[in-house]
Amino acid sequence: MFDKLNVEDAQERIRPFVNATPVLTSSYLNDLTGKNLYFKCENFQKTGSFKARGALNAILKARSSGHVTGVIAHSGGNHGQAVAWAAKQIGVPCVVVSPSTTPKTKVDAMRDYGAEMVITEPTMTAMVETSARLAKERGYTFIDPMNDYDVMSGQGTVAKEFLEQVDGLEAVLIATGGGGLASGVAGYVKAQKPACKEQVDHLDAVLIATGGGGLASGVAGYVKAQKPACKDTVADGCRPLAVGDKCFDVLLRSAEHTVFPVTDEEILEAMKLILQRMKLVVEPSAALGLAAILKYKDALKDYHNIGLVLCGGNVDLTQNLGKHE
Ligand SMILES: Cc1ncc(COP(=O)(O)O)c(C=O)c1O
Repeated sequence: MFDKLNVEDAQERIRPFVNATPVLTSSYLNDLTGKNLYFKCENFQKTGSFKARGALNAILKARSSGHVTGVIAHSGGNHGQAVAWAAKQIGVPCVVVSPSTTPKTKVDAMRDYGAEMVITEPTMTAMVETSARLAKERGYTFIDPMNDYDVMSGQGTVAKEFLEQVDGLEAVLIATGGGGLASGVAGYVKAQKPACKEQVDHLDAVLIATGGGGLASGVAGYVKAQKPACKDTVADGCRPLAVGDKCFDVLLRSAEHTVFPVTDEEILEAMKLILQRMKLVVEPSAALGLAAILKYKDALKDYHNIGLVLCGGNVDLTQNLGKHE
């Protein structure tokens, strides 16, 4: 079960290790959008993304309820770095299973955090099977990228901090892949500030922005078959089409069922604006929220004070910005 108390516990548990990230604003972007935008800078988080929160919470929680001899994850990016970093904090070995398509810079980063890297074919099935087999052989604890209440609670600490930092938020826009961040944030916000459309000083919506139609397809995919697949969008954190079933359950109960799909061009345009106007280096997934605000002005007309989570800063600038000439 997801519970806001678990988010509060998670915050206490991970506080000594993670950064309490700042919230920044831009008068240029406020004028451009006609809103008050608040950017929660998880690009300044340890390992460069919010993923450090969930991974560390899950590992510390597992350790508190039993002996953890090592941890294992499958990931081509931020989750792998987060698990490797978290394992290092408590001094246990870590294996990360990555697809052969993972850029060398990311493989190197995971190795630098101390992970033993195992490279598989670039399919979800190969990654899931390899990590399950290695976890069993070695007796290591598997850390799920999102579909785990401890991971979701860790990600929910983003929302707890955000609400403490900004008064009067009316909506938060979250980029989603497998749904760990969205469900953690939505679950906490919903429990903390129940829906109250009449009072604009109450946060009443957690809206979802998605790269390639991820959540919409994920919901359909879940209802049909929960079939993992990958969509080729520049927002690599948001590629999974299927939302985890535990995340899906929390999202259905806690988030607005509004999904704002944006294209790669719109994502890269928003990323450039954040770079040029706020001097912030963010990865494409982190630009989804601003892209959605620029695109869906009418749908968002009732919301003025909007929170955006700049969920990560791990970007290969030459690759991403070079594509958008
Ligand atoms: C930077 C970034 N943003 C958003 C996401 C999506 O997170 P989730 O899978 O929890 O929905 C990810 C996932 O890897 C990510 O790395």
